[in-house]
Amino acid sequence: MTDLIQKDLTYNWHPYTQMSIQQANPPLLIEKAQGIKLYDASGQWYYDTISSWWCNIHGHLHPRMVKAIKQQLDQLDHTLFAGITHQTAIELSERLIQISPDGLQRVFYSDNGSTAVEVALKMSVQYWRNSGRPEKSKFISFDRAYHGDTAGCMSVSGESAFTSAFTPLMFAGYKVPSPYCYRCPMGHTSQDTCATACIKFLRDALENHSDTVAAVILEPLILCAGGMLIYPAAYLAEAALLSKKYNVHLILDEVAVGFGRTGTMFACEQADVCPDFLCLSKGLTSGMLPLAATLTTQDIFNAFLGPSGSEKTFYHGHTFTANPIGCNAALASLDIFAHEGILAHVQVLAQELRKSINMFSDHPLVGDIRTLGTVAAFELVRNKKTKEPLPGNDQMIRQIYSRGLEKNVILRPIGNVIYLFLPLVTTLEDLKDIISKTHASMV
Ligand SMILES: Cc1ncc(COP(=O)(O)O)c(C=O)c1O
Repeated sequence: MTDLIQKDLTYNWHPYTQMSIQQANPPLLIEKAQGIKLYDASGQWYYDTISSWWCNIHGHLHPRMVKAIKQQLDQLDHTLFAGITHQTAIELSERLIQISPDGLQRVFYSDNGSTAVEVALKMSVQYWRNSGRPEKSKFISFDRAYHGDTAGCMSVSGESAFTSAFTPLMFAGYKVPSPYCYRCPMGHTSQDTCATACIKFLRDALENHSDTVAAVILEPLILCAGGMLIYPAAYLAEAALLSKKYNVHLILDEVAVGFGRTGTMFACEQADVCPDFLCLSKGLTSGMLPLAATLTTQDIFNAFLGPSGSEKTFYHGHTFTANPIGCNAALASLDIFAHEGILAHVQVLAQELRKSINMFSDHPLVGDIRTLGTVAAFELVRNKKTKEPLPGNDQMIRQIYSRGLEKNVILRPIGNVIYLFLPLVTTLEDLKDIISKTHASMV
């Protein structure tokens, strides 16, 4: 064990980690990264198959991004964003408004995915208060959602190991069964015939509670931490119509799926939906710097206008709001999208990924295979007929992770789901290698 790892074990406390077993399972010491590869201190390299927690889009240390960050460091590092503004934030907001669905006209910055969501929740509640409807303060969300780890985000997320210790901190809302097609809450066996029947749960919740509901909050097209549950765009389109019909906001959390991940710049484009709030982070800076944005409409913005010191003011902010270096990184990322044919490449990559994962269908433990954009997931079961899930702590899953590392792929599971969440710039050649190494790790 190196000195550095020893110090890590002495001083650090890692997220989502049972630290009592770290001594026996020390973390990988990553020394450098380039493109879609990470290199550890022993000289071993790994494909960054989960995009460094779902945020790397253009590969590590993309020269345009590095240049933009260095340039910004010569100009302006950080300043507050109340009573002060700066060029990078202004330009980034203009660009985000230009590329996001028509109807979104205002950008509120923060610094991570949870704060992007927390801002949307608070804005929605205060919108109704400012509009004389303070009773509209609850949220409808999916029972397998994950929207972050702050108290508000946990409250609208599904019950899980991530939330169970914190229930005293959380507020009540309405949870509806998720569109989990493999384990259809309506009992359908094929997506081709279901006609998104499970939207019924959302409709019922709205019908019964819309008078007290501020917003419906959803992860569009993929419930990521819920196990990469992919659902049809038709569901999302219907959810948007229902939100309008029942006069509640629609918050779309694209923290994980925004910026090309599902094949379009934003997942909601595939359902032709413009939400009332769009939450962005992770891919916003291609994972290089912490930055988040909550986009909203002029109508919502207007409801917060009033005289100086008005109670209508949105009293929320963070120290690193609109950090100029983060904003310039985000501008560089958008330039890469504009000039390097990224979305066109994702189409080809997604098609190849879809074809290549067929080889997993014969695997005795793979009950379901799902894919969209650069995401592919394999749900492991004990029995394909009964769909009995393989427990998340099954030794087999740990073995797959260890074998993956030996074969240069990071297959960090979510419960009983092994998945790939590939940087958008993954080449077809690398994809072939990643698939073959993933397959070899699962036998
Ligand atoms: C959909 C979604 N929302 C919010 C978050 C929270 O983001 P952060 O970890 O940056 O707070 C995540 C994180 O994975 C996420 O997947």
